Amino acid sequence: EIEQKALFVIFGGTGDLAKRKLYPSLFQLYKKGILQDNFAVIGTARRPWTDEHLQEVVRTSIASNDESQKQIDEFVRHFYYQSHNVNDTEHYVTLRELAEKLDLKYQINGNRLFYLAMSPRFFGTIAQHLKSQNIVTDEGYNRVIVEKPFGRDFESAKELNDSISKYFPEEAFFRIDHYLGKEMIQNIMALRFSNNLFRAVWNNRYIDNIQITLSEALGVEERAGYYETAGALRDMVQNHILQIVSLLTMNMPASYSESDIRREKIYALKSLKKYSPAKVAENFVRAQYIGNDGQVGYLQENEIADDSTTETFVAGKLFVNNENFSGVPIYIRTGKRLTQKTTRIDISFKEMETSFFDSKKLGRNILTINVEPEGQVYLQTNIKKIGQGFDLKPSRMDLQLNNENEVVPEAYEKLLLDALLGDATNFAHWEEVAYAWKFVDSIREAWDAGNGDLSEYKCGSMGPKESEDLLKHDGNHWVFTG
Ligand code: BG6
Repeated sequence: EIEQKALFVIFGGTGDLAKRKLYPSLFQLYKKGILQDNFAVIGTARRPWTDEHLQEVVRTSIASNDESQKQIDEFVRHFYYQSHNVNDTEHYVTLRELAEKLDLKYQINGNRLFYLAMSPRFFGTIAQHLKSQNIVTDEGYNRVIVEKPFGRDFESAKELNDSISKYFPEEAFFRIDHYLGKEMIQNIMALRFSNNLFRAVWNNRYIDNIQITLSEALGVEERAGYYETAGALRDMVQNHILQIVSLLTMNMPASYSESDIRREKIYALKSLKKYSPAKVAENFVRAQYIGNDGQVGYLQENEIADDSTTETFVAGKLFVNNENFSGVPIYIRTGKRLTQKTTRIDISFKEMETSFFDSKKLGRNILTINVEPEGQVYLQTNIKKIGQGFDLKPSRMDLQLNNENEVVPEAYEKLLLDALLGDATNFAHWEEVAYAWKFVDSIREAWDAGNGDLSEYKCGSMGPKESEDLLKHDGNHWVFTG
């Protein structure tokens, strides 16, 4: 890769995301030579930190045994701290001066990436000030990267979008969905479009149903404040799950390019079938975890209201009514405090009618795309048992994403590099976000109007019974049982 020159301004530089994801990812880019001498990072937040303190925090966040101290010392020297109240115009003046100084010092040529990793209610005012206080430059590029949550319904997302679009055009606007930076999620397109075998059968003539599972073992942790305003539907379905749905069901783009790929994803999301409120109750399940086996229930967690009805689990059946997928049920589920952390997609192919075998004994072909914990793809097939006669047994064809010596880059590292290169393919376009919200709003509104009860499930289970019933009703079952 070639060296990139850039000044990062991270709003929310003292936050959890910066420490857990952004600083370590920047360090990876540094180790790979994508960032070398000509870069600097300004961390900003309310707290009165010093440059030295930020540098210490960065050092701690990237620390691991095998890194050379000298390299870390050099890296952290590129970090600067600016205490900043986002509503105070004066502070932007200081920020501009610092940005200009660093631009000269590191010969960055005016390339700027503004990373908004703080409460979305400040996005508009930050965007406005970046423009009005001339923190954007004329010589280089100016890009804005925004973190989730991107609104809490279509209306608020639109407001948020407008408040940034007023100052930054769509091509400078990078909406993060970190699932799009995951290697195995990017592999969906590779699998589908580079293998004629899969291309031929990737449609409603051969696929019986698709199952998407994003399960987590963790509970709500320290994020009660946010989670209470979101719930699993907004937190995981609107973004990550619907993005996966679009990658699985979109038509093949005309080329591997940002605009062609985004166009097809938008069409897929536009084709999501909407339910009437009564049908929402039939096709979506929401539930909350209750205490089990030493783990407390959601209502007993810190800062959660005793009567909270926030869902920590969602399962649903949805349809993408485009040419290739109409009629194929797409079962989705996600939840906190389930048996384990797993992200996977199971594509179940139709059974075949044949008199050659006893069809009842024939196992289905199931293609599994395992995203986490390990990157794997495997296909369930039938094979002959060794020996006399003609009995069959199930067998698996396996693909492994990486071998032992290959390190798979973190999603954030890949996305930061994409943003440096100006490639928004793996970011969410506004229209994708908009259609996804419209779909999610229709579910939410039906729930709010009393369609569909809130069920419960035990910590450490795979969700409520209703989630099993949803598939049973169609004569199906979850392939992944936890
Ligand atoms: C985030 C959600 O978007 O994704 C979290 O807000 C969730 O609630 C996280 O834990 C899961 O991401 P990953 O990469 O760990 O699967």
